Amino acid sequence: MDKIKEIKDLIYEKLNDVSSLEQLNNLKVEFLGKKGLITEANAKIKDIEVDKKKEYGMLVNELKSLFQEKYDENKKRLEDEIIKAKLEKDVIDVTLPGSIINIGSKSPIERIIDEVEDIMISMGYDVLDGPEIEQDLYNFELLNLPKGHPARDAQDTFYIKDEELLLRSQTSPVQIRAMLADKEKKGIRMICPGKTYRRDDDDATHSHQFTQIEGLIVDKNISLSDLKGTLDVIAKKLFNENVETRFRPSYYPFTEPSVEFDITCFNCHKKGCNICKNTGYITVGGAGLVHYKVLENCGYDSNLYSGFAFGFGADRLAMLKYGIKDIRTFYTPHDLRTIKQFAKKEGI
Ligand code: DAH
Repeated sequence: MDKIKEIKDLIYEKLNDVSSLEQLNNLKVEFLGKKGLITEANAKIKDIEVDKKKEYGMLVNELKSLFQEKYDENKKRLEDEIIKAKLEKDVIDVTLPGSIINIGSKSPIERIIDEVEDIMISMGYDVLDGPEIEQDLYNFELLNLPKGHPARDAQDTFYIKDEELLLRSQTSPVQIRAMLADKEKKGIRMICPGKTYRRDDDDATHSHQFTQIEGLIVDKNISLSDLKGTLDVIAKKLFNENVETRFRPSYYPFTEPSVEFDITCFNCHKKGCNICKNTGYITVGGAGLVHYKVLENCGYDSNLYSGFAFGFGADRLAMLKYGIKDIRTFYTPHDLRTIKQFAKKEGI
């Protein structure tokens, strides 16, 4: 019994003000470990006289509870102290200004593409994509441009392998892919914006990489007036309501008849200004009714189906619309400040 009193006093004394978690753990071993004071007192129960065993057992249990209580108190206090010290050390000054993250901005070409996509989607067109490394078959042959055809010269092409694999010189192969993929021959309504490549010497108006937007519709009873109406809508929505379109006869192997299409100058409306070089008109691209051979190459019965196609340079439109003098600005590393000036006030 004396020993129990002694242990109790020790608990009060030693667990009065423990200064570290390590010290606390050592005390746990000292009192409750294999050879701990309380553990040994507990083991002695077998030597106690029978009539005192119960009372002795209760006293040992009280010791255990007392130790646990003191242990828990100290542990909580010490842990709180650690957290408090850490918070004081890692203090955050919420009044400091944040770091400014520069968000990106769309390039003028992306803006043109987005606008044309929106216009065409509103008329039920799909937007399709195709590979930039293309087969001669899709880029030329099936478009009615067999090997040796003189019109190939106009598209000075980057060949990659054996005159069979090339960097696409136009986005028209995407039209071929779409027509071949139309297995049930239900018809097509699509545009395909994308990068194209030609062996041009780069200058202010030429770049070996440029961007085209082409469109294609294949259906029954498609005529040249459908083409004109569609291009009219695009021009009016892209520039303004006063803009009109004009066709001039032209030649492309994949369309017959073929046209070149101009728009009235969106800036001066035919009066003549420096944008249209005083002609009142701006040439935008090429177009026509899909050549029957191209339709047949892709499995359409040209007696039943007809279609129109058009293609224009997104770079040229972006240059006109945003008053950019040099096409190379689009393909050299961008300074965010340069492209940010085209951002609409509210957007990116
Ligand atoms: N692919 C032609 C070019 O790069 C442009 C073009 C003309 C596309 C007429 C067409 C088209 O789809 O019908 O010069």
